[in-house]
Amino acid sequence: MPGAWQLSVREVASVAGYVASLGRMAVEFVPGNTIHGEELFRSRGCVNCHIVAGKGSANGPELTAAGARRNAAFLRESIMKPAAFLPDGFLVVEATTSTGSVIRGVKLNEDNFSIQIGSADGKRHSLDKLALKDLKRLAGQSTMPAYANLPANDIEDLVAYLASLKGSE
Ligand code: HEC
Repeated sequence: MPGAWQLSVREVASVAGYVASLGRMAVEFVPGNTIHGEELFRSRGCVNCHIVAGKGSANGPELTAAGARRNAAFLRESIMKPAAFLPDGFLVVEATTSTGSVIRGVKLNEDNFSIQIGSADGKRHSLDKLALKDLKRLAGQSTMPAYANLPANDIEDLVAYLASLKGSE
């Protein structure tokens, strides 16, 4: 790629602005109550796995700019059928401890001796791998529960809230 030496500073700025806009969604009308959606996001435990503007846990993708990157149809499907789209980096693991308790969640980190797991209640577990009875890697699964049984209005309110999130990550 040749450097853009022939462009002025202003031209570089406008080309950069154009390219930055390419990944963004077109403005779309989304019915639903954004404020109620935000309440549901907290009360339904979405914050246990998602960060919005610095708050929440990172067991799932950050959603600070969800509405800038995803359209309403994608957001709706993500809530109702989470396993439909599995981005890299959220491998589900299931560890059985020496006392027989099972810890399931997203793998946050791992080395030869230990593994860190983020479970759906928002907690982080650091486990000694050598002391585990079993450690399963469940590729192709999602830790996110499906919320298809929420009232249809609640799903629309959540979608409206997520669609309103345009912040930078
Ligand atoms: C137990 C953790 C967990 C909980 C609770 C959870 N999610 Fe997720 N979410 C994930 C993971 C992990 C992904 C990545 C895709 C996958 O594994 O299904 C995801 C993906 C998403 C995506 C797609 C993001 C993208 O841009 O690809 C959206 C939107 C979303 N979740 C919204 C929600 C909402 C709304 C709630 C609450 C009603 C919620 N999530 C609750 C873990 C969770």
